[in-house]
Amino acid sequence: MLVIKLNAIDSTNDYLKQLNKEKTLSDYTVVTTFSQTKGKGQMGSNWISEPGKNLTFSVLVKDSVTLQSSIFDCNVAVAVSVLEVLQSLKIPNLNIKWPNDILAESKKIGGILIENSIKADGMIDTVIGIGLNINQEDFSGLPSASSLKNIVEKDFDLEFLLEKIVNQLKSNLNKLPLRKEFFWEKYKSHLFKINQPMAFEDLNQNRFMGIITGVSSDGKLELVLEDDSCQTFGLKEIRMLY
Ligand code: BTN
Repeated sequence: MLVIKLNAIDSTNDYLKQLNKEKTLSDYTVVTTFSQTKGKGQMGSNWISEPGKNLTFSVLVKDSVTLQSSIFDCNVAVAVSVLEVLQSLKIPNLNIKWPNDILAESKKIGGILIENSIKADGMIDTVIGIGLNINQEDFSGLPSASSLKNIVEKDFDLEFLLEKIVNQLKSNLNKLPLRKEFFWEKYKSHLFKINQPMAFEDLNQNRFMGIITGVSSDGKLELVLEDDSCQTFGLKEIRMLY
């Protein structure tokens, strides 16, 4: 496994996508950085991480479309992989907040940004970007974020964790077509606030209540609304308020 370790870069996802255009990289090439200066989050948000304290890395999966039968299967398997590693470290109260935030004790400790690139031969390569808050202690201004250290009061070895997560990812993605149901079950059983009433906001900033009942195979959030209707919402259509 090739691990490219950088001191500083704008975004490991962008760097790996660019490098993959310029040369032939092997499957599961990893790019990790001490400091990420312009980390990208979901929906055009920023991913901010204190240099040297956390994991910010990207993993290349080549010809990824052969792995999945629905577009969201890869997200599910990646979120479950991170969850499994954190479970093995005995991190308490882990959840996946739709679509793929990693929470511990209801605070966000990790985020995943998956980007697909179509190549000239029509095949799709996927860059899986993962940010995990590990040893950072100060989250002033970010009351809904936390780190492993703040939760279990000990330091973690970043290299050891990186290797563990990449190995888990590799093993799970290789099993994806066969174990798809298992990953979906695990994803749903850890879904934050499933079967509980929650407040949401639509694009026009209208607030409404709904009960999360699941996630559709194309990654939309399934809700039962106050009028008892069932509706699905894409990431761009809804914001969860909590
Ligand atoms: C989110 O929760 O909004 C997703 C955050 C993803 C952050 C990671 S850090 C490594 C990789 N490079 C990026 O620019 N983003 C992802």
